[in-house]
Amino acid sequence: MESLTFFEIAKILISFAVCAPSGHNSQPWKFQVVGNTIVIAPDFTKRLAVVDSSDKELFISLGCALENMQIAATNYGYTSDYDYTDGKIVVTFTKSDSCATDTLFAHIKTRHTHRGSFTGKKIPQEQIDALKTIDNKSVAIFASCTPQADFICRGIAEGNDIQMSDTAFKRELLSWMRFNKKHIAQTQNGLCYNVLGFPSTPKPMGRMFVKMALNPKSQNKTDGKVNASASHFCVLSTNGTSPKDYIALGKTLERLLLTVCGSGLAYNFSNQPCEIPALTEKLRSELKISGYPAITLRLGYADAPKFYAPRKSVDEVMVE
Ligand SMILES: Cc1cc2nc3c(=O)[nH]c(=O)nc-3n(C[C@H](O)[C@H](O)[C@H](O)COP(=O)(O)O)c2cc1C
Repeated sequence: MESLTFFEIAKILISFAVCAPSGHNSQPWKFQVVGNTIVIAPDFTKRLAVVDSSDKELFISLGCALENMQIAATNYGYTSDYDYTDGKIVVTFTKSDSCATDTLFAHIKTRHTHRGSFTGKKIPQEQIDALKTIDNKSVAIFASCTPQADFICRGIAEGNDIQMSDTAFKRELLSWMRFNKKHIAQTQNGLCYNVLGFPSTPKPMGRMFVKMALNPKSQNKTDGKVNASASHFCVLSTNGTSPKDYIALGKTLERLLLTVCGSGLAYNFSNQPCEIPALTEKLRSELKISGYPAITLRLGYADAPKFYAPRKSVDEVMVE
């Protein structure tokens, strides 16, 4: 590693940053190496104008990428700090002989969002307590079948009723679906048939099948099964509603997801209640959350995935 230039190290760090999760696997980021810094900028051409009109999830995704980058830096002997200015995240790196590798580094490449139901097994309370300590203020976790978890499940169902009746939401979702190997190779992003457990189909046929499945009744049936199999539900909240707040939450979210996957647990998103302002407000008051709910997750146990979501290459997400 000694012989690598900072630019070469930066490309390695970016390769870890892009492993982060993002809404619809849109990968809404661009990276630029400037001196001993890496600038992470939002790529607004990838914004999800309907489901994420305020760009909340976009900035949370950038925070996840930032966290991966900062964790990876420790493995290469760098400490790092960041600032959010002029709409961009500037990450500064300092070489340090005493910097120990963050243990979450080992899980960056294998973290994944579980698709489908969980096994139904309950997570021990000590493990839940350990997850909460990642950030007691922004992480709230509720066991399934409690009034709070039931309220979240009702929020998911109400969210499906609204989103799956909204033509613009469905059109946007459909535009991020990838229906076969060729389609994935062309885009290297999006929600892929194999990850979701669908058969490969020609694009027009896939679009037709998915269009038929995108309705409140069928989505609620699917989500009902997943909800019933989850061990816990987790709500992550921000202090405020600025990009800075969302980036900070993205960092916490990524630490939580890496910890979950690294401890043999699984998670998936059920973010509907945080995507519709009226439902978010209800969630906030019913669950007595002092901040702003931004992410809803389910936690449980599940098998390893057969397929991982694709990512664009480092060169494609770098700008000169
Ligand atoms: C801010 C944010 C919101 C998300 N919301 C949802 C969601 O509501 N439903 C869902 O199934 N996945 C959601 N995801 C998960 C993404 O679809 C997933 O991260 C992406 O497809 C890449 O897959 P991976 O996480 O397995 O790498 C969300 C991810 C992020 C970062």
